[in-house]
Amino acid sequence: MPERTAASVANSELHSALTSLVGDKGCLFDPEDTAAYCEDWRQIYHGQTPAVVRPASTAEVASVVRFCAERRIAIVPQGGNTGMMGGATPSAAGSEVVLSLSRMNKIREFDVVDLTMTVEAGVALKTAQDAATAENCMLPLSMGSEGTAQIGGVISTNAGGNNTVRYGNARELVLGLEVVLPDGCIWNGLRRLRKDNTGYCLRQLFVGAEGTLGIVTAAALKLVPRPHDIALAFCSLPSAQAALDLLVLCRRSHAASIQAFEYSDSGLPDLVCKHFPDTRLPVGHADHYALVELADAASDSGLRERLEDLLSQAMDCGIVLDAALAGSTAERAALWQMRENFSEAQKRESAIIKNDVSVPVSKTPEFIAQATEACARKFPDIRIMAYGHLGDGNIHFHLFPAVGAGNEEFMKLDHAIMDTVNEVVRRFDGSFSAEHGVGQLKAYMMEKWRGGVELDTMRQIKLALDPLGIMNPGKVLP
Ligand code: MLT
Ligand code: ZN
Repeated sequence: MPERTAASVANSELHSALTSLVGDKGCLFDPEDTAAYCEDWRQIYHGQTPAVVRPASTAEVASVVRFCAERRIAIVPQGGNTGMMGGATPSAAGSEVVLSLSRMNKIREFDVVDLTMTVEAGVALKTAQDAATAENCMLPLSMGSEGTAQIGGVISTNAGGNNTVRYGNARELVLGLEVVLPDGCIWNGLRRLRKDNTGYCLRQLFVGAEGTLGIVTAAALKLVPRPHDIALAFCSLPSAQAALDLLVLCRRSHAASIQAFEYSDSGLPDLVCKHFPDTRLPVGHADHYALVELADAASDSGLRERLEDLLSQAMDCGIVLDAALAGSTAERAALWQMRENFSEAQKRESAIIKNDVSVPVSKTPEFIAQATEACARKFPDIRIMAYGHLGDGNIHFHLFPAVGAGNEEFMKLDHAIMDTVNEVVRRFDGSFSAEHGVGQLKAYMMEKWRGGVELDTMRQIKLALDPLGIMNPGKVLP
């Protein structure tokens, strides 16, 4: 733990030191200006800070970290502040400096032959995607928050999203990193190599570390050729098992083309229709749905016809009830918009207890059935909605208070509900955090559901890199 925190350094001293390091433009001290940086996107955590510092270069980040390390001041790195686990929110103690990467927003390099781009941490994911598209490439990381989420944040949480089934998590796309270490040293590991076996893979230590081991300031990312043929279908299904059967059927003939395979029970599409009344589902109401996308680089691969054939086969054997193919770019965008509105629709609905879990892909229907049974038995009044990236075995198993019931009473059940779900996750040797990270919300679970040699080793790594404990305290490790 930090021996000395910002609270014990006079604010005036802190403010003038930070201003001298990054200039007036790089500092926010007024509580009105810092408020937005002290609350997470879900508005669960309300922290305080004596300063938000916004360096514009790696050298400035390093100078701030060096200053904080000398004075034992804890730092909370922050990107687009779209995280789900409170990983970028300072504590209520008001002693931690928030370090926002948002002014580090340059695309440093682009190489169409190497299929790489080197970007600073504060570049919005969507900006990076658009830059790749403009060069006929694709940055294959996509999620609802992409307009606001920043590269440093998606790397630090090892974000997943809708294309993981084909291209992997953020981790798989990171070829190199530049990181400011907890003592203020800069590690320039921005190599753009596809192969590099020189000892331990340092960059992977920082991916998913949620800023607890250092601050990611730039990344060399792997791109893929931009797909020119894309086919997207929205299907209604008789069961979650049918979604798994459809995935297996798709894999049999189109394994290399599957770009997204999303499942949802009726809960979230219904919520989106309620909170975004312009939404139109292209098939009749059902209890289960899948969104299936195929993509190929060649423009003449006939994906639409291939997907139509596949779906009619699936209908013949009762796996699919009804299906609609996006007939235009606008229809495709509308379907994805509906999917991307899931998070916002939940936020508008009520309080939520989110379980972002993963199990082996083959076990997803069984997991949903058992977790539903366990929760419904213990908490009969709550509403359950299950959906997610079924192609990755990643289920968002979310619980809501009964319609009209109070949020506050419901939220008192959070640990009891999450423990009930995690008991089921354990039966399948699954994970309590698939793609959202651990942050502060799930830090207690590390002891309870992970523990042992794995947690001890993580603690040793933390101690080796951040012996003063100044990097994002209270996050990830309990
Ligand atoms: C999603 O896939 O929609 C998000 O990762 C889940 C969420 O908003 O909780
Ligand atoms: Zn998700």
